[in-house]
Amino acid sequence: MVREALDSTQDLAAQLAREGAPHMTCVLAEQQTRGRGRMGRVWQTFPHYSLACSVVLHGQPAQLPLLAALVIADSVEDFCGVRPSIKWPNDLLINEQKVCGILIESFALNDSAERFHILGFGLNVNTPDDVAADLPLTTLQQHTGKTLSREALLDMILANLHEATLRLKEEGFSPFLETYRQHCISLGRRVRWQHNGEERYGKAVDIAADGTLVVETEAGRIHCPSADIIMEGASS
Ligand code: BTN
Repeated sequence: MVREALDSTQDLAAQLAREGAPHMTCVLAEQQTRGRGRMGRVWQTFPHYSLACSVVLHGQPAQLPLLAALVIADSVEDFCGVRPSIKWPNDLLINEQKVCGILIESFALNDSAERFHILGFGLNVNTPDDVAADLPLTTLQQHTGKTLSREALLDMILANLHEATLRLKEEGFSPFLETYRQHCISLGRRVRWQHNGEERYGKAVDIAADGTLVVETEAGRIHCPSADIIMEGASS
């Protein structure tokens, strides 16, 4: 379903899921007046140059954010030869600049125990002529030098996402874990995060089987309780 303007594709996708929309129903909007990111942040995209989509997913386990990042990164690489890195859990970066953000929201399905998830992603594909040079983001076009077909890229992402979510359901996350680790640039870096108003830090050393980030801290190894980490410095 394609709309010129919406508050947020997340809301329409959630409404459609409540009305019975099946797995992989996709809502795309050129413009969002209340696009949202993780941690309550505002999300803005370039109308007609970016992809702003939300996909209905039924019955997926905890590692869905990591799977979504891997699927979109793989699809981008297959499509245009540029490989985005993953900042745990699910930001996609090229040369440390954000090219895609992913938001997953989960809801109970009509008072039942069953849940559905809305996977939203904002992917910067092409570059408008008037884009400000100092924005802290990048586009695929800036790395390929080509104007890319958003429709063809979206088709590829959706086909790969469909296949991957079926596999995740049947086999769990273990078939994807090693590839995720290879592309996760948070590993080996010093990371910090806020916990109960205090700053915590350590070195990210692994991704656990459940998808959590394992961090070596002064107090020992812990599973990072925040999905909002700041990466410091170069790899070490
Ligand atoms: C983030 O990095 O904070 C996540 C950004 C997610 C943005 C997408 S754009 C399509 C969908 N609709 C929204 O309102 N948000 C997501």
